[in-house]
Amino acid sequence: MTRPPLVDTFRRTISYLRVSVTDRCDFRCVYCMSEAMEFLPKRDLLTLEELDRLCSAFIELGITKLRITGGEPLVRRNIMQFFNAMGHHVESGALKELTVTTNGSQLERFAGDLYAAGVRRINVSLDTLDEDKFKAITRWGRFAQVMRGIDAAQAAGLKVKINTVALKGVNEDELFALAEFCAARGMDQTWIEVMPMGDLGNENRLDQYWSLDDLRATLAQEYTLTDLPDSTGGPAHYVRVGETGQRIGFITPLSHKFCESCNRVRVTCTGEIYTCLGQEGHLDLRGPLRSSESNEPLERAIRKAILLKPEGHDFDYSRGTVGGQISRHMNHTGG
Ligand code: GTP
Ligand code: 5AD
Ligand code: SF4
Repeated sequence: MTRPPLVDTFRRTISYLRVSVTDRCDFRCVYCMSEAMEFLPKRDLLTLEELDRLCSAFIELGITKLRITGGEPLVRRNIMQFFNAMGHHVESGALKELTVTTNGSQLERFAGDLYAAGVRRINVSLDTLDEDKFKAITRWGRFAQVMRGIDAAQAAGLKVKINTVALKGVNEDELFALAEFCAARGMDQTWIEVMPMGDLGNENRLDQYWSLDDLRATLAQEYTLTDLPDSTGGPAHYVRVGETGQRIGFITPLSHKFCESCNRVRVTCTGEIYTCLGQEGHLDLRGPLRSSESNEPLERAIRKAILLKPEGHDFDYSRGTVGGQISRHMNHTGG
């Protein structure tokens, strides 16, 4: 029996689930976490079996793209057990894509296992090619380890896309170096506008904000850019670079809102569903999940949350102030 699909009140069909499996991370990126983060007690986390049941229920309701996020998803203990379980849905054809967004630190260890589980494409966050800058941005990260991780992923047959947060005065001067680095390795790259998430003390979003309109105009001074139709189901708008053949994507929550085509919801590692990255609203799914062996209460809670999905975020820097700030840190929902 086929179930009615998940459709919100703005007639958007929800087919993409992003699940954060841990709020922990081995880095402390300045735009994501404060240096002294407090993490959730482990007892509050959904178990791997519960994550399996929850995601499988979403897949029955029409989710075809599943992205595993964190924190850093690959630092969760025994996480491959969960990837393997989700791989069965790829095998059955129910899931069109099983994928992950990672900081790359654990890929040397897990790239082969990810491929074996049915993952074919991964997104790796990398904001700079300069070791000192890398240290400054990630606080705890080690550049060489991430490079070895990217090598391992490519050697295992995973297609790698690089995610770069555009940071004024930080990686502006690396626009072409990063493009060339990606092109030389046959990788696509996506630039992301920095969003006002989490109370990060002295970090000032407005000073850091580098509009992707400006970034694109600078790219176009050297490269021939041809707009491409969307294809990944994610929020990026892509161009093809004539000179290198690579794709470069732009995720522009600030300069060009893309919420009208939003197809995604997020679930945190404690089983809260957030139907918008840029709003505080959320509902608990852990209670309904644990309340019964049947998925019926869970399904009811999911449908209720979808009907509350807001029209979009309220991030706005256009008045010279930070509008729409969200107190939640990015590692809570995994971006
Ligand atoms: P693919 O298109 O499949 O490669 O992935 P994706 O862009 O959906 O996933 P990824 O995890 O690489 O997302 C990149 C970043 O885009 C996220 O970390 C967020 O910062 C941002 N992003 C993704 N979805 C949304 C969204 O719905 N709203 C906003 N404002 N930002 C989003
Ligand atoms: N604004 C934009 N992107 C962010 N990310 C983390 N914090 C922010 C922010 N404040 C990105 C990371 C990674 C993904 C998980 O989210 O760089 O690519
Ligand atoms: Fe960790 Fe990613 Fe947040 Fe950096 S952006 S601290 S790598 S979760």
